[in-house]
Amino acid sequence: MEEIIAAIRNIPDFPKPGIQFKDITPLLADGRLFHRTIDLLAARHADQGIDIVVGIEARGFIFSSALAYALGAGTCLVRKPGKLPHAVHQQTYDLEYGTDAVEIHTDAFKPGQKILILDDVLATGGTVAATVELIRSNFEVEIVEIDFLMELEFLHGREKLAGLPMHALIQY
Ligand code: PRP
Repeated sequence: MEEIIAAIRNIPDFPKPGIQFKDITPLLADGRLFHRTIDLLAARHADQGIDIVVGIEARGFIFSSALAYALGAGTCLVRKPGKLPHAVHQQTYDLEYGTDAVEIHTDAFKPGQKILILDDVLATGGTVAATVELIRSNFEVEIVEIDFLMELEFLHGREKLAGLPMHALIQY
């Protein structure tokens, strides 16, 4: 675990002054550590019969597709508006200034499927909370867990996921 943490690079003042950006590209470039990261996530869900791993654009896709492959599950894309080609459901959420939205295909799941949601970072929690609402308000599926590579605890994003099972490999 220490090696994985050490492979995540801190970039001060990116993309704006005062923000300490956690850059995962050195971790992704190290085959052994990337593999180990996915193995750690897969070990949590080995015997749960997960049908679909949901990834959130864009860095979330890197981990969700690898985890889906490791679990023998399918994967599903939650994307920013206008990117998905078929009919979509949309959920908006508030940003510090303005709003944003996430979208999912209307045929993303079959009723009763067991799903995981996976993203690289839990920050304010706005993106993942909108993703949960998007899924819960449109589909009859079981959200088994919401997983993150990293949680920025000082932003209290997990409060937006109250009552839902969640796990982050790394806390800052
Ligand atoms: C980042 C990250 C999460 C989200 C977390 O995505 O990948 O999806 O922000 O922030 P929140 O908890 O405050 O909502 P970003 O919008 O930077 O997009 P990217 O993955 O396409 O770079």
